[in-house]
Amino acid sequence: MTHMPEREWVPLLVPDMPSPQELLPWLERMHAVQHYSNFGPLVRELEAIFANQFGVESKQLSTVANATQGLELALQALDLPAGAHVLVPALTFVATATAVVRAGHQPVLADVDARTWMLTPDIARATCERMRIDAVLPVATFGMPHDMQAWQRFECDMGLPVIIDAAAAYGSQSLQGAEGTLVFSLHTTKSLPAGEGGLVVSTRPGLAAKVRQLSNFGINLDTTASLPVGALASLGSNAKMSEYHAAVGLISLQKWELQAQRRRVLQAEIMHEMNQASDHSLTWQAQGPGGPLMAPTLLCARLSDAKARGALEQACQQARIMTRRWYQPLLQHMDVLRQQCVCLDTPNARGLADTLLGLPFFLGMTTMQRQRILHVLQPLS
Ligand SMILES: Cc1ncc(COP(=O)(O)O)c(C=O)c1O
Repeated sequence: MTHMPEREWVPLLVPDMPSPQELLPWLERMHAVQHYSNFGPLVRELEAIFANQFGVESKQLSTVANATQGLELALQALDLPAGAHVLVPALTFVATATAVVRAGHQPVLADVDARTWMLTPDIARATCERMRIDAVLPVATFGMPHDMQAWQRFECDMGLPVIIDAAAAYGSQSLQGAEGTLVFSLHTTKSLPAGEGGLVVSTRPGLAAKVRQLSNFGINLDTTASLPVGALASLGSNAKMSEYHAAVGLISLQKWELQAQRRRVLQAEIMHEMNQASDHSLTWQAQGPGGPLMAPTLLCARLSDAKARGALEQACQQARIMTRRWYQPLLQHMDVLRQQCVCLDTPNARGLADTLLGLPFFLGMTTMQRQRILHVLQPLS
């Protein structure tokens, strides 16, 4: 009897991290000065590059240990009254909402736009007419950038602070010449991987400096402040980025442009192939007024209905192709979150939750892996 070797799974994502050889010179640099954390030279170097890229002063940004802490501390820095209503999209990663709860506030779960899959200023305005909202936390869904001029207008008109959860949008989301606050993730799976890491960029006076202080337990390090240096100024956390992570981030930055371009090409090719294989029965996230996605890190398709999504999921499972229901279930369908949230009607988000499916996407996908995915899509045509 001939033994058929089991087919390897096609993975969903494959990290694109620097090699140990690339890391070594940076680790040696770190070790030579024996500075491993606490805003060392590598974190400062990374922050100087970010300040230049975002066109802000160094005091208008702070690295943090991850985006979840970045969101939580940025919310804390807003000094909202306890239990404030923070509007978040129902379709997002859990960290958007858990950060709100952990900052002592209540998430209000809003609907998203059916085409861009994002919470828009129009949706936020309509919600503000119906109930009290104290702050808005839109998400750059799957890395798609927001229109920052539109959110700045919203902030001015409504007098409410907006923090963009741009976790997956490094390289796509910028300030676009507007005032605003952005929080990025530098997790391994994101477009600028540092292993773990986050970045808060904010033109709101004092916000980034406050986040930096909160990330260092709340200890005052400002010689010009009324409190002495070393005194506890507020109830912070430990959310500093280490020098190890900054080293990985700095290496990733050197390669970012090239990798982003390769990701864009791969995404365009795969979408084209999939559209043909499925006879155009898939829909993709539409670009909004915030501009294009510069460094896609995942691929999420929308099927015609829940039945078609289930069938594709099952076919992928049988063909040993990994899939993921990204951002699902919706936040209001998670028991631990539902009790903490105000849940509004979210028909678009519900429709998306029934029909979205994450498919494999990573640099270095082989022709054979791509063929296997196209093969399971053919019955849809
Ligand atoms: C929308 C969103 N917010 C927050 C996070 C959390 O980022 P981090 O892993 O850096 O804490 C993620 C992570 O995937 C995310 O997708």
